[in-house]
Amino acid sequence: MTIGIIGLGAMGLGIAQVYAQAGHEVLATDANAEARGSAAARLARSLDARVAKGAMTAETRDAVLGHLRVADRIEDLAPADLVIEAVVERLDVKQAVFAALEGLLSPDAVLATNTSSLSVGAIAAGLSRPDRLLGLHFFNPAPAMRLVELIPHPTTAPDALAKARSLTEAAGKTVIQCADRPGFIVNRCARPYYGEALALLSEGRSAAEIDAAMVAAGFPVGPFGLIDLIGADINLAATESLAAAMGDHPRYHVFPALKAQVASGNLGRKTGRGFVFPDPLPPAPSDAAAITLRIEAVLVNEAAWLLAEGGTTAEAIDTALRLGLNFPRGPFAMLAQHGRDAVQTTLAALETAAPPGLKGRYLPAPDLRP
Ligand SMILES: NC(=O)c1ccc[n+]([C@@H]2O[C@H](COP(=O)([O-])OP(=O)(O)OC[C@H]3O[C@@H](n4cnc5c(N)ncnc54)[C@H](O)[C@@H]3O)[C@@H](O)[C@H]2O)c1
Repeated sequence: MTIGIIGLGAMGLGIAQVYAQAGHEVLATDANAEARGSAAARLARSLDARVAKGAMTAETRDAVLGHLRVADRIEDLAPADLVIEAVVERLDVKQAVFAALEGLLSPDAVLATNTSSLSVGAIAAGLSRPDRLLGLHFFNPAPAMRLVELIPHPTTAPDALAKARSLTEAAGKTVIQCADRPGFIVNRCARPYYGEALALLSEGRSAAEIDAAMVAAGFPVGPFGLIDLIGADINLAATESLAAAMGDHPRYHVFPALKAQVASGNLGRKTGRGFVFPDPLPPAPSDAAAITLRIEAVLVNEAAWLLAEGGTTAEAIDTALRLGLNFPRGPFAMLAQHGRDAVQTTLAALETAAPPGLKGRYLPAPDLRP
């Protein structure tokens, strides 16, 4: 098969690597000449790192590099069976890319968007063949992260979905289908991990002790360590975008502490200092179990709200959060571990104590009502 990639930034190049490693011919382009010119060398660097670790032979690296062809013009992607766009996150730009593409490709080719926050249906609107378009949401770094969210919109053709799924599974990914809703599964269900930690911070707990509690509970990185890794600015943008898409419901409250962190310029690893980076974590506080229960109860509730909206399963949500965020267990496994009573009681106590601006934040999803 021939895979087309549009946009050779961090995501596009990583996605190109995924399919080239699976033995496909990859035709890739970018509007920016510098991005096109540097793509092969950037891919070589990424593969060299695998060779150095003993995860890939030099012969395989050369074969993978041989599978990438960088094209100057979008027209050169005409032979592609599946084209994935990873251009800038703007609806008008993505719509223009697909409008230019659809006339070039064979009628059974599949169009995929790697959007994180736009509606897949909105991107397809205006195409003459919207049924060929779907979402294939990779995580960063694409070659290393096993999860890919597969997102149909209401008129996506079943054969297009099946083709995108089988090509991506054959490239070694775990593909989880989700509904075309804001944040899909992972970016939405992850919100409470940060949000509830920020709520605790605004109540006077320290970021370091909250992180220490979550690490003691088996999470590889605490909420603030994760914000530091992602960048507080990127995390704020994702939080604000989801809050807007969800009508500013208090479950998606944008905590002032996150805005203040961005304003301070201490964005995390990329600036050398964040909420907790680069300091070592202290020992877990004596009430670590209560901190974990609180954050996990809110994670469970968000997942239960998403489940109630339809289009996914508890198992899919659990798998998505384990693979997309490296959580040690998904929200429904957390529910089983704590028990419904503990989760319900925790949510009820939080709702009672919620300050006026957060009233409604902790109301339980239908399946969690007493
Ligand atoms: N970075 C992440 O963690 C991440 C994760 C999942 C999804 N995404 C999504 O992937 C997409 C790309 O993100 P990124 O981080 O790789 O961005 P990036 O800025 O690193 O790369 C975007 C590339 O697209 C090119 N481009 C812009 N407009 C174009 C056009 N009209 N035609 C061709 N090329 C064009 C740019 O020159 C740039 O090289 C976005 O939709 C983003 O939301 C990003």
